Amino acid sequence: MRQRFKTIMTEGKVDQKVTIFGWLRSKRVSKNVAFLVVNDGSTQKDLQLVVDGTNPDFAKLSELGTGASLRAEGVLKASLGKGQDMEVHVDSFEIYGASPEEYPLQKKGHTLEFLREIAHLRGRTNSFGAVYRVRNQLAVLVHEFFQGRGFQWAHTPLITASDAEGAGEMFQVTTLPLDKLPRDDKGAIDFKQDFFGKKAHLTVSGQLNGEALALSIGDIYTFGPTFRAENSNTTRHLAEFWMVEPEMAFATLKDDMQLAEDFLRYVFAEIVKRCPEELDFLGTHYKNSSVEQIAALASQDFGRITYTDAVKELIAASNSAKFEYPVSWGIDLQTEHERYLAEVIFKKPVIVTDYPKDFKAFYMRLNDDNKTVAAMDVIAPRIGEIIGGSQREDRIDVLKSRMRDFHIAPEDLSWYIDLRRFGGVPHAGFGLGFERLVQYVTGMTNIRDVIPFPRFPQGIHF
Ligand code: 4AD
Ligand code: MG
Repeated sequence: MRQRFKTIMTEGKVDQKVTIFGWLRSKRVSKNVAFLVVNDGSTQKDLQLVVDGTNPDFAKLSELGTGASLRAEGVLKASLGKGQDMEVHVDSFEIYGASPEEYPLQKKGHTLEFLREIAHLRGRTNSFGAVYRVRNQLAVLVHEFFQGRGFQWAHTPLITASDAEGAGEMFQVTTLPLDKLPRDDKGAIDFKQDFFGKKAHLTVSGQLNGEALALSIGDIYTFGPTFRAENSNTTRHLAEFWMVEPEMAFATLKDDMQLAEDFLRYVFAEIVKRCPEELDFLGTHYKNSSVEQIAALASQDFGRITYTDAVKELIAASNSAKFEYPVSWGIDLQTEHERYLAEVIFKKPVIVTDYPKDFKAFYMRLNDDNKTVAAMDVIAPRIGEIIGGSQREDRIDVLKSRMRDFHIAPEDLSWYIDLRRFGGVPHAGFGLGFERLVQYVTGMTNIRDVIPFPRFPQGIHF
């Protein structure tokens, strides 16, 4: 039976018989003995196999190239060599797949750019193995945190007819023949003949449906893929990314901020316990993050500041900070401003609240000043915005007038307005960009390196 390296390394005993399966990382063969370094992806650590020169298959080892796959049976022994506690003294082995010299991962130390070109193989490197395992554990922690608080995981649709954020950055979904589009009597494309009988898109957020569910079964969270067709070639944007969107009934912006902070701090505290070897490897190798830094994030309060005060601070800092985009009340904060707040002023994650209404979404609750909305963004050092959320507008008249401001026809979202007509309640929620969380924890600077097969403009090869 197959025994994973992770199990062998945590539970294995000297003299125990094991059967391992994995891919060859490197080999050293001399006349009397061969050392094979193998990894099976279950853990950061490699396992060393020792094959004695008297083994009947010893000659076959010459066929074995880096990247080849094999099975080996043998006995666990304490290792005399450096870097591992135990090694396998091999009785027999079988080569599954050869790996000729063209295997692109012959040597260590490839650049991340090069590895992006071979996304189908990069998971076999130490760096990407580490990132993918951390990503998996972070996903587990998302569920653990929310389930532990009584939130229910809700599934919202990926294909939608509404544009939740009022932004024109969606992928259209259609079965109409693009070379022969049906036209109505006015010559416009006749979407009545399309699959859904109207224009449809991939969703940019599960929030609006999430609100309906929060107002039905109490607190919920979504965790699934989200699509944005914004043409941004940045290190923080993907065209397909995963979002975690909790939504709470009977809750205000204050509750929302607390939930966001509790959630992130829980994740930071736990991930260092779940993936110490991965985080240690990434921290040592890329030097953007460390186990100690992540653990420290868990133990301190986040900063909190209103948008208006943040703008004052940024203006005061403008001379020394030399921002590319000048700061004044009413501008949307740019990444350079967000990072200055988190990295220089607060030196930790900070929650910015009460943004001007003009550049935030229509559903955010209007504050009494009529100028700002009950919004909050969690800004993290290195990353900038990691979470965006708000208390939702629960007053029908205000909601409708805000929709009109954003050129959204209330009729198109009548079901959403119904949530305020029938038993409406104060409610609030947020969206966490899952890849930005993975970036923050792993210290990877490019978002394309924290999802196995990234989607971005012109990028869909794998
Ligand atoms: O701030 P956003 O646009 O908020 C929403 O979508 C709300 N409906 C959330 C809610 O209140 N339920 O997106 C939320 C988060 C951002 O803070 C960011 O971390 C991430 O999603 N995000 C992206 N991540 C990767 N690639 C992109 N193109 C992203 N756009 C947003
Ligand atoms: Mg946002």
